[in-house]
Amino acid sequence: MATLVTLLIVILHTVFFLFLLRKYRYRRMRLPPGSLGLPFIGETLQLISAYKTDNPEPFIDQRVSRYGPIFTTHVFGEATVFSTDPETNRFILLNEGKLFESSYPRSIRNLLGKHSLLFMKGALHKRMYSLTMSFTNWSIIKDHLLVDIDRLIRLNLDSWTDRVLLMEEAKKITYELTVKQLMSFDPGEWTESLRKEYVLVVEGFFSLPFPLLSTTYRRAIKTRTKVLEALTLIVKQRRKESEAGEKKNDMLEALLASDDDDFSDEQIADILLALLVAGYETTSTIMTLAVKFLTETPLALAQLKEEHEQIRGRKSDAEAGLDWSDYKSMAFTQCVVNETLRMANIIGGIFRRAVTDINVKGYTIPKGCKVFASFRAVHLNPDHFKDARTFNPWRWQNNSEATIPGNVYTPFGGGPRLCPGYEVARVVLSVFLHHMVTGFSWIPAEEDRLVFFPTTRTQKRYPIIVKRRDQAKPCKAEQCVHNI
Ligand code: HEM
Repeated sequence: MATLVTLLIVILHTVFFLFLLRKYRYRRMRLPPGSLGLPFIGETLQLISAYKTDNPEPFIDQRVSRYGPIFTTHVFGEATVFSTDPETNRFILLNEGKLFESSYPRSIRNLLGKHSLLFMKGALHKRMYSLTMSFTNWSIIKDHLLVDIDRLIRLNLDSWTDRVLLMEEAKKITYELTVKQLMSFDPGEWTESLRKEYVLVVEGFFSLPFPLLSTTYRRAIKTRTKVLEALTLIVKQRRKESEAGEKKNDMLEALLASDDDDFSDEQIADILLALLVAGYETTSTIMTLAVKFLTETPLALAQLKEEHEQIRGRKSDAEAGLDWSDYKSMAFTQCVVNETLRMANIIGGIFRRAVTDINVKGYTIPKGCKVFASFRAVHLNPDHFKDARTFNPWRWQNNSEATIPGNVYTPFGGGPRLCPGYEVARVVLSVFLHHMVTGFSWIPAEEDRLVFFPTTRTQKRYPIIVKRRDQAKPCKAEQCVHNI
């Protein structure tokens, strides 16, 4: 017993000593002010519990008011400098590969795979980034992708009746679009059975990343192997076809042709899976939240409907798909897209690691220190956006966004890692809104009114009751979908 007590006292003293030593070291380094919390776990528990509230940025808000826009904390096992300052965020983004390097937790790497662009560095990153861009830029969208985006969104919406789980539907659409873009597959039995496995992998991103503690995470890692095997078979098949001269215009063909990198079939499957994941949760969330914001802002919804009815009205064939000039004429829609991206902030910020000691605003970020540049904190700060927590698409009208500096509005990041899917995401949301407002009226389903602030609980499914507009009849009942 005495030995046990002695051991406990020794452990407690050691922990206390390490705590003081760590505090002293960090103070000497002139890190931004802040608290490192408890030894080992730091302030991780405060961070996790803060995001269970309906407030969008409780963890950051509290620390900004105590320490200022740049502060130090200790989360997920290491000291991390948080920046909510637009100028510093820009500095971090632009110095990617020079003073900072992309640094995401191992749990994300295990799920995304090491061939994700997010984890590539140097010359390989540059090559793969431009290869990805060559399949996501505006001219590809204009000439090829827009037709598929329009067709697949219509196909999905055509099957809607009565009660729709909006988030689920948006995810299905996003998945089908990406599979088409990457491998030229139209929705069918194979894509649907792959989707069932794939969603289990994605669930892993929203679980505790400890295999021993979380069955969801364990299942995600296991299923990832199965999905990769299925994709590898496709790559092998396509390699044979490609060698026989049967070429397709998709990302997989470009990867097969990029012989200077000489990727194996398994590596290509890994790259495809990472790309499939990259735009999935992000795009489907903005599709869902745009509908939520519009439902709560009837004036904006009315103006949007008018814009899209005019586009429909200009078409001689009522069934004709949208083309590039239609997309370019959606001026108010672009305001809705900008404002949704500002408010929704599905990617709250980005992680980097300092590769050398860096001086920022009178502080030193020491070599090796983790950095988090928060976009959400900037987007929701009333110093940068008036009534920042109100959905106001008109703030983007008359080119007034030109007065908003580039470093203040960064939903897609910036610098060498600017999201390559930024234009695709904008077009998908615009086309989706077009078919939503011209095709349907809707109200949120009774049991799940869309009340809370969206950034905190994106895992909601957002049920809505829909009614095709051509079938809508006036009705006396209050809250009836026919009246909307
Ligand atoms: C609303 C939708 C989207 C948002 C808000 C978004 C946001 C972002 C952000 C902020 C980054 C920067 C990460 C960093 O710097 O560490 C990023 C990177 C990336 N995004 Fe997106 N994204 C969206 C849609 C898409 C789509 C549709 C694709 C599919 C092509 C995509 C593919 C990627 C890839 C591959 C990267 C990694 C780039 C790199 O590390 O070089 N994203 N995204």
